[in-house]
Amino acid sequence: MTAGDWPPLPEAIPTPRSLLRPFSVADADDVYVYRRDPEIVQFLPVSQPFERADADHFVATQVLADPRERCVWALEHEGHVVGGVSLRIARQQLRAEIGYELARWLWGRGIMTEAVSDLVDIAFRRLPILKVSATAAAPNVRSTRLLQRLGMQREALLRRHWVHRGRILDELRYGLLREEWERNDIANSG
Ligand SMILES: CC(C)(COP(=O)(O)OP(=O)(O)OC[C@H]1O[C@@H](n2cnc3c(N)ncnc32)[C@H](O)[C@@H]1OP(=O)(O)O)[C@@H](O)C(=O)NCCC(=O)NCCS
Repeated sequence: MTAGDWPPLPEAIPTPRSLLRPFSVADADDVYVYRRDPEIVQFLPVSQPFERADADHFVATQVLADPRERCVWALEHEGHVVGGVSLRIARQQLRAEIGYELARWLWGRGIMTEAVSDLVDIAFRRLPILKVSATAAAPNVRSTRLLQRLGMQREALLRRHWVHRGRILDELRYGLLREEWERNDIANSG
C-alpha cells in the first residue's frame, strides 16, 4: 500500500456508550450547547466567548474536512452530539494524531477513553501507520490522564511552547507505536 491509496475509515463507529458519526450542519445547536462552556475550550484554540455563529462555523469546518488529511467524527450520546474526535493523517510520516473533546457534564465516566481507544484500534488495523500521536497543554491534566490510560508514552515536554489567552504554557507530546498497541491489543483481547 502506498501513501496515496489508503483505505477510507468507517463513517460510523459504534463504541460502547456513544456513536462516532459524521457531523451534519444540523448539529450546530448541540455543539453550541457544549462548546459555549469556557471550561471545555480552556485548552483549545477556540474564540471566546463562543457564539452561536462560531458553532455554525465549527460544524461547517468539520463537514468540509478533507478525509485524506483530517478525519472527524461527531460523538453522539443519547441522541445528541456532545463532543467530537479527529485523526489528523500525516501520510508521508505514516502517523496519525488524535484530537478529542467532550461536553463537561459527561466528564469522569470513561466515555471518551472508550471512544478514542476504539478509534486508535481502527486506525492501527486499517491504516499502515507506525504511530499514533497526541499533543496536550501540560496543565490539561484530564487530557494527559486519558492518553496515559490508552497506553501512550510521554515523549517530550516542550517548554513555554504555547501562548494561549495570555498564558504561557508548556506542551506535552505523547505517542503510541504500532508494536506497543499490538502488545496492548493482545493483552486486552486475551
Ligand atoms: C480531555 C477530556 C475528553 C477528558 O475527559 P474525561 O471525562 O476525563 O475522559 P473520559 O471520558 O475518558 O473519562 C475518564 C475519567 O472517568 C473515570 N472513569 C469512570 N468510569 C470509567 C470507565 N469505565 N473507563 C475509564 N474511565 C472511567 C476515570 O477514572 C477518569 O477519571 P479521572 O481522570 O478523574 O481518574 C475532557 O476533559 C475534555 O473534553 N476536555 C476539553 C477538550 C480538550 O481539552 N481536549 C483535549 C485537547 S489536547
